[in-house]
Amino acid sequence: MQYNCAREMCGIAGYVGHRPAAPVLVDCLQRLEYRGYDSCGIAVVSDAGVFLRRSVGPIAEFREEVLSAAPTGTIGLGHTRWATHGRADLANAHPHASCDGAVLVVHNGVIENAFELRERLVRQGHRFTSDTDSEVVPHLLEQGLTEGLSMDEAVSKLPSQLVGSYAIVAVRQGQDELFVLRKGSPLVVGVGEGEYFPASDIPSFLPYAQRVIYLSEDEPFAIGRSGIRRLQGAGASRPAGPYLEVPEPVSLNVESVSKGSFQHFMIKEIMEQVGTIGRLLESPPATLATASELLRGAQSIKFVGAGTSYHASLYGQFLLATTLHLDSEACVSSEFQFRADALRPGAVVVALSQSGETADTLQAVRIARDRGARVIALVNSEGSSLTRAAEVVIPLRSGPELSVAATKSYTSQLVALTLLVERLSPDPMEGARTALEARDSLLELTSDAARAHIASLAHNLARHSQLLLIGRGGNYVTALEAALKIKEVAGVAAQAFPGGEMKHGPLALVAEGSPVILFYDRSQVDQAELAASELITRGAVIYTVGPQPLRSSSLHVRVHDAGAATAISQIIPMQLLAYELAKLRQLDPDHPKNLAKSVTVL
Ligand code: AGP
Repeated sequence: MQYNCAREMCGIAGYVGHRPAAPVLVDCLQRLEYRGYDSCGIAVVSDAGVFLRRSVGPIAEFREEVLSAAPTGTIGLGHTRWATHGRADLANAHPHASCDGAVLVVHNGVIENAFELRERLVRQGHRFTSDTDSEVVPHLLEQGLTEGLSMDEAVSKLPSQLVGSYAIVAVRQGQDELFVLRKGSPLVVGVGEGEYFPASDIPSFLPYAQRVIYLSEDEPFAIGRSGIRRLQGAGASRPAGPYLEVPEPVSLNVESVSKGSFQHFMIKEIMEQVGTIGRLLESPPATLATASELLRGAQSIKFVGAGTSYHASLYGQFLLATTLHLDSEACVSSEFQFRADALRPGAVVVALSQSGETADTLQAVRIARDRGARVIALVNSEGSSLTRAAEVVIPLRSGPELSVAATKSYTSQLVALTLLVERLSPDPMEGARTALEARDSLLELTSDAARAHIASLAHNLARHSQLLLIGRGGNYVTALEAALKIKEVAGVAAQAFPGGEMKHGPLALVAEGSPVILFYDRSQVDQAELAASELITRGAVIYTVGPQPLRSSSLHVRVHDAGAATAISQIIPMQLLAYELAKLRQLDPDHPKNLAKSVTVL
């Protein structure tokens, strides 16, 4: 039998406690929506039986319907899905159930041997109703129960049966506990007073619980109202029994995971940057010292990151070259595997990630460590997998970033790189000074007047489906990041090119009325004038971002020149532009089409 394996990359949440589970689960899932919003579902188990509801589309639409019908049971689980393979339809939505409907499971990750398991389970008489790899889990548990195992034993057997990565929460009708297990996919447990919240991420349960347990890999646990039990799993390193470790306090506050007075998380997070950058500059992480020592002794330096974090990596490479005349290489995380053979002893890999859960970046780090490289990580999300995989962690401390588009974590990455490189510099104050200058200009760049100015730029661009962004040196990094933001949230085919490359091909894209945004600094004004006149000759309309307008600027966005640190402030108007464009094009900037924030599958 051929089936299309649907790999799961999503948000999961569970609840056991004293409150009705359904509203808590829906609420927790809504704060996990940045991990996926193709479909969602919850299951609540009570004396009244199993209540299972699933829906295609975002949780807001599901909320009303489910809450009016849900029973008051106090144990349950839920899921919000980002479909990577397999349609985003009702059949593939979680939770998945066993044939008898008594075992319910939510899963995040990829079960690589799902096909073989499914074939065997079908031969044993199990009926499957979805394309997902996840559905093998409730059937495996049911099969174990049929063969006489207890639920504890059936769950404990899973690590020896499943190949791949998984975070799993399961519940069985008639049993007052949730069963949880993780390997290679994130799963933490929020701890309240007599209530527990297993979830993919801390923001999910933050309004309910401010203490957290970070689950170890491949150790199955059962969670009831009176505590957590460690089961005797195949991979378990410690004996079965009560979980006695003290939960860790969470440093995030509830406001950090709500929109407050803002319409979207994206604009809230853009506006927070004066504070996030300021905090990082005012109290630099202590680990910068160890990290800089590692870099000082490095035989070679590689940066790895995906998407926005890759752009920050390019900035790291740019900073090392321009301020320290040091050679390094920035590599897209997923491409690192093809360059790993070139790693030599003494290499240091600097991995960048907002979430700390990006599978491509974690894979790059694993490869690097296997080959003896030392690994420094710049990470925003506390307690994430990358913080455990790296040798030295520089926390970005920009707080939870819930909009799919990375904004404040990007500028924090640039600031952290500036601080790191500065430690190796003969003029150790230079980096912080320029970063402070850039930070100070943020107040002006996010003022009402500046936002209105960007809104008029957005009006000029809104009807275009294609946009070119051009810069040189550090400005090219901004062009790349701006293009990514505009693509993601506004659905415009925005492409970035280094200024010098235009005549080698991209100029062919320019026609009468084509919009082009040019980025430049003080030293590049003359070059930018030449580029602009070349583009205008071909019919382009020129918009400019720099310290002063060009003769041909149709609209200019002034950004104070702070040397290499200009990249920190220069991106702000472009984040605002992407946001305004999304709104004008009637798109939800927090939930871009086909995307999820944390890409936890390869
Ligand atoms: C940024 O706007 C994107 N959503 C995406 O490119 C992101 O930067 C990428 O997936 C890497 O994520 P990370 O920083 O959490 O590793």
